[in-house]
Amino acid sequence: MLGTLFFSLLLTCACAEDLVVPRLNDTKAVEAFADSAEVVLVGFFEGENSRGYKELLAAAKKVDSVPVAICSVKEVWADYSLSTDTITLFRKADNRQENLVVSELKKLDTDGLVNFIMINEVRYVTEYNQVTAVGLFESQVKTHLVIFANRTSKDFYELKEKLAALAPEFTGKFLFVLINGALKSNSRSLGYFGLKSKDLPRVGIYDGNSDMKWLLPEGDITVERVRDFCQSFLRGELKDVAQAGDKSKD
Ligand SMILES: *[C@@H]1O[C@H](CO)[C@@H](O)[C@H](O)[C@H]1NC(C)=O
Ligand SMILES: *[C@@H]1O[C@H](CO)[C@@H](O)[C@H](O)[C@H]1NC(C)=O
Repeated sequence: MLGTLFFSLLLTCACAEDLVVPRLNDTKAVEAFADSAEVVLVGFFEGENSRGYKELLAAAKKVDSVPVAICSVKEVWADYSLSTDTITLFRKADNRQENLVVSELKKLDTDGLVNFIMINEVRYVTEYNQVTAVGLFESQVKTHLVIFANRTSKDFYELKEKLAALAPEFTGKFLFVLINGALKSNSRSLGYFGLKSKDLPRVGIYDGNSDMKWLLPEGDITVERVRDFCQSFLRGELKDVAQAGDKSKD
């Protein structure tokens, strides 16, 4: 008896987990949801039969790092300048609202949505790869604080976490990008800064607006030093400092 009850409870939970996607019924709820994680998705769908609804839920299951909710209240859509069914990704790192207007899509399938999510999953610290490179490139924020580190080294996560805590101070100014310097495929990025994999970890700034780059001088990578480095860039003080990879300074 008890066994049956326990089993049926388990079943209920498993089924519920499949179906529960939060419904957001007012702008406050959408705002709170968007604030609840670095990257979230909201399906602004008229109803469950709307084109893309099922695909979104299927994609959400595959990319479980990004929470998903649904908003069917049209009065709310206007607050996000939306007028038809739209899948929207909200992210904090650069305050971006990335819209996928369903009626404008020729093709809409689960894999395509998974791709959309992975490309746009730009976080306070984004690990660089061929997919995230697209999302980073498309951001309005063109200056990167680049962290070159060996992903398999002992202090990798500690370094990542302490810089992730710093990144929100520079929202809209910098994207923090982590490059795994132990990967062969990233050796060009290292070379661009005049680095070799034995030099890691190091921190640099790449400014896409001026196409200039600088390295934080060798030494402990502390939050204070990285913050000062970012601030000196913002004050325009790095313009007179020798650029990274510039052989003449070595
Ligand atoms: C939102 O509205 C739907 C439909 O009216 C309702 O089922 C749901 O419980 C509401 N959600 C919240 C959080 O109020
Ligand atoms: C990265 O770190 C691991 C673990 O310490 C080490 O075995 C490996 O050689 C390092 N890779 C490079 C390119 O330095």
